[in-house]
Amino acid sequence: MATESQQKTPSPRGLEGVVAAQTAICKVEDNLLVYRGYPIEQLAAKADYEEVAYLLLNGDLPTRDQLRDFKAELIKHRALSPFLRNILQEASENGTPMDVLRTVVSASATEDPAEGDNSREAEYQKSVRLTAKMPTILAAYMRRRKGQQPVPPDASLGHAANFARMAGLEHPRAAEILNVCFILQAEHGLNASTFTARIVAATNADIHAAVTAAFGALKGPLHGGATDGTMKMLEEIGSPDHVDSFVEKGIERKFLFPGFGHRVYKTEDPRAKFLRNFARELQKDWKGPRYFDIQEKLVDAIAARRPKMSPAAAAKVNVVNVDFFAATTYTFLGIPADLGTSIFAVGRIAGWSAHIMEQHGDNRLIRPESEYTGPVGKRYIPIAER
Ligand SMILES: CC(C)(COP(=O)(O)OP(=O)(O)OC[C@H]1O[C@@H](n2cnc3c(N)ncnc32)[C@H](O)[C@@H]1OP(=O)(O)O)[C@@H](O)C(=O)NCCC(=O)NCCS
Repeated sequence: MATESQQKTPSPRGLEGVVAAQTAICKVEDNLLVYRGYPIEQLAAKADYEEVAYLLLNGDLPTRDQLRDFKAELIKHRALSPFLRNILQEASENGTPMDVLRTVVSASATEDPAEGDNSREAEYQKSVRLTAKMPTILAAYMRRRKGQQPVPPDASLGHAANFARMAGLEHPRAAEILNVCFILQAEHGLNASTFTARIVAATNADIHAAVTAAFGALKGPLHGGATDGTMKMLEEIGSPDHVDSFVEKGIERKFLFPGFGHRVYKTEDPRAKFLRNFARELQKDWKGPRYFDIQEKLVDAIAARRPKMSPAAAAKVNVVNVDFFAATTYTFLGIPADLGTSIFAVGRIAGWSAHIMEQHGDNRLIRPESEYTGPVGKRYIPIAER
């Protein structure tokens, strides 16, 4: 007779293809990304990030009055308390951007008036506060580590423009392009960080706990960390002339080229084309290394060597994902190379929050099982006899 463990059917590795939740927030399929019914192409071409954040949190686009009020709420909550400013200052001494951002966001739970209240209304307010504060935290960090005082938020500016100003970005297109980047990064279904947030939320933990956990997942190089990883790789390559040998060696040692491959997209990541256009245009005025040229050559060099790869790897590297050209877009706007993943988080907070609220709106603990593959029947030997 089959034992209990033999009867369990393990899911595919990495839960590939498993539908682990229902959601009305976002549809992700090959070359398709839709936020609450609106194709990403339309939102990226026409919307403000604030409209998209409202859409994700509320289910539809705001009216003019609703948008005005939503923007006013965001503006009201941009500033950081002395408590958060102190933590930020201490942490910025040696902390990486993602560690500092995560730590300050986590610490903001301790002063949030609705901490522990998981009602829809309270979570909505907390989502607004987190969305409002994250650009301020990141911009202050960017200045602190250069030994500069933070620039206070400017109530006359929208979300992206205010961030660009606080961060000291002087590029004339910084606000416009960052607005699109935040929209493209705002939401992406059950990606690793959002799934993490939902698992934590499903224990009935609060939004700050869930978002803090999501940060942990986003940091990894297989997820949002690939933005920073892309810049590291491009810096190492240094020039288009070095691409071929870099790719040759990379394939030999099964290097995972950051910015290539996706679990869901098989032919195209619909966000990448926007970012590629930005990177191509921005390189024209960029005085440093020709990172975009390196990227184009890298795409071609990897494509040419696909026959040398395993069929699974050849299929993966066929797709350039969102992180690849986001990395150079940010760099060309004057954002340091290790800040790309944090910019990603500033956009993604809207999606994380929407999923946490959706999870709490119809909650059940997420608790899968594992198939035990270890030894059985061992006998305990007292320590004196070992
Ligand atoms: C995104 C990613 C994690 C998806 O992983 P996945 O769906 O689990 O794919 P697997 O790890 O099973 O990879 C299948 C094969 O493709 C290869 N592969 C996957 N991504 C690759 C990459 N970027 N470069 C080179 N080879 C890659 C794997 O080594 C594996 O090869 P093998 O079968 O010969 O061992 C993966 O493509 C990756 O690591 N990409 C680089 C990091 C990145 O850009 N992440 C951001 C995603 S938005």
